Amino acid sequence: MTIAALCRCSIVLIVLCMLSACGSFAPSAARSATTQPTGSTKTYGDLVVGFAQIGAESEWRTANTRSLQETANRLGVELKFADGQQQQEKQIQAIRSFIAQRVDVIGISPVVETGWDAVFTEVQQAGIPLILLDRHASVPDSLFSAFIGSDFVQQGRYACQEMVKLLNSQGNIVVLEGTIGSAPTIDRRAGFDECLRDYPQIHVLDRQSGDFIRARGKEVMKALLATHGTRIDALFAQNDDMALGAIEAIEEYGSKPGVDIKIVSIDAVRSAFEAMIAGKLNATIECDPLLGPPFFDTALKLVNNQPIHKWVKSADNIYRQDTASQELPKRQY
Ligand code: AHR
Repeated sequence: MTIAALCRCSIVLIVLCMLSACGSFAPSAARSATTQPTGSTKTYGDLVVGFAQIGAESEWRTANTRSLQETANRLGVELKFADGQQQQEKQIQAIRSFIAQRVDVIGISPVVETGWDAVFTEVQQAGIPLILLDRHASVPDSLFSAFIGSDFVQQGRYACQEMVKLLNSQGNIVVLEGTIGSAPTIDRRAGFDECLRDYPQIHVLDRQSGDFIRARGKEVMKALLATHGTRIDALFAQNDDMALGAIEAIEEYGSKPGVDIKIVSIDAVRSAFEAMIAGKLNATIECDPLLGPPFFDTALKLVNNQPIHKWVKSADNIYRQDTASQELPKRQY
């Protein structure tokens, strides 16, 4: 064979090799495809997933972390878990380290809504599917594969509807809001305020952030009571932990939570049911933290290039004092 013929033959072989490799590539699962023979399907045992959690600010968050870790163990998924300690910078570092480790899928619950474009673009350029869990981010839809979580705006509307009934459509409210700039804080406020516009005799006296933390809820409620005193008819706490902290502040002030000051909150964690049974909390709107199963289901579908829902929406209920003791034994978190 002449040198020219050999060269022609090598070029054909190289092109054939490239074509067969490209044929097994999937745009949203580039890395997994390189380790997979053409046509094979990945199972949970093959998956390596990185998850950038917010922290451990509430009973809800602890239940959410437990759901992810227990589900990963049960399914045999390798989960690389990073605790962001409430800091966006730490979550960004975690994502960069997951990219460097070439995980199959990255998940994140973004502590705040904005400031993610650059790092999410890096994830996309690395060809790794990205799932937003629990909290969404203000980024173009093309920068993430799926969002799994609740409709926070609807939760705000439900909370307002409960409040309207408890107040017979008139009275003064104070609001304990969550982390400033976070999706649940922004959306729950939007839903609550939208519904409140139909009730001009209900007034919001004040709203302050308690950062979704019980101790902060107590501290801020104490300050609100010092400022507004007995003019406060009701409290809307954007999560149960802050409501539970506020209950302590109200008792220390000498008023009766759930009676003198009506209270509606969000999450439906066990302690909220105990507070409802004790008559100290009037209603709680569920926010399902058990997101481990839909998260890994979506992750597996993504690496196998199967169809997924862009928003896997949780179904959330409303719980009140009258059914709290029946419901408590059924609660999983
Ligand atoms: O993002 C969900 C919220 O975050 C929960 O309502 C709250 O408890 C948590 O910390």
